[in-house]
Amino acid sequence: MASGAISWPDLVVTFMPLAPSGVLLTGSKYGCGGGGCGACTVMVSKYDPQTKSINHSSVNACLLPVCQLHGAAVTTVEGIGSTKTKLHPVQERVAKAHGSQCGFCTPGMVMSMYSLLRNNPQPTLEDILEGLAGNLCRCTGYRPIVDGYRTFCESENCCQLNGTACSLANGNGSVEPIENGQPELFRKEDLLPLDPTQDLIFPPELMRM
Ligand code: FES
Ligand code: FES
Repeated sequence: MASGAISWPDLVVTFMPLAPSGVLLTGSKYGCGGGGCGACTVMVSKYDPQTKSINHSSVNACLLPVCQLHGAAVTTVEGIGSTKTKLHPVQERVAKAHGSQCGFCTPGMVMSMYSLLRNNPQPTLEDILEGLAGNLCRCTGYRPIVDGYRTFCESENCCQLNGTACSLANGNGSVEPIENGQPELFRKEDLLPLDPTQDLIFPPELMRM
């Protein structure tokens, strides 16, 4: 690279988004810069005038050219909830399940799960595993993250629904019980309910573009 040229990480820092109040949005993380870790995941929403529906996608912000965002709404982790206002259930459940340790991957995990729920509020365990497949975590081993998020699924083999304490699915999608005596970290009835009517609306002005 020529001396004095601006590198891609510099550009990311330079264009780090600002909230309307001028506060830096530092939730989305810059990890690999190559689409491999998911730490930068945000939700991109677009209105489809043909079907008159809004499509939500989790995307790797590090790979997305800004010019592709014409007419799109971008939601970062700050947009869905915070400890200063109110946590979104996606944030609360990963925290209560101890699915966040250093926390570097957490905003990306949260936004992948949030995007999945915007499209499908009643995912299966397979949907959840697929939705998180592009997000890497170096700390947790993934089990606590999936344990937190499987509370959103309503399939019959979901441990939280049939009242059986269990841990991670085995290879064919069934569940294994938690080992004897291991306490549950949280009770499902204490969790914030998922209420899609409380989600951010798509900006109406973008529906005319
Ligand atoms: Fe790793 Fe974007 S920073 S996928
Ligand atoms: Fe540290 Fe996931 S909690 S990388």
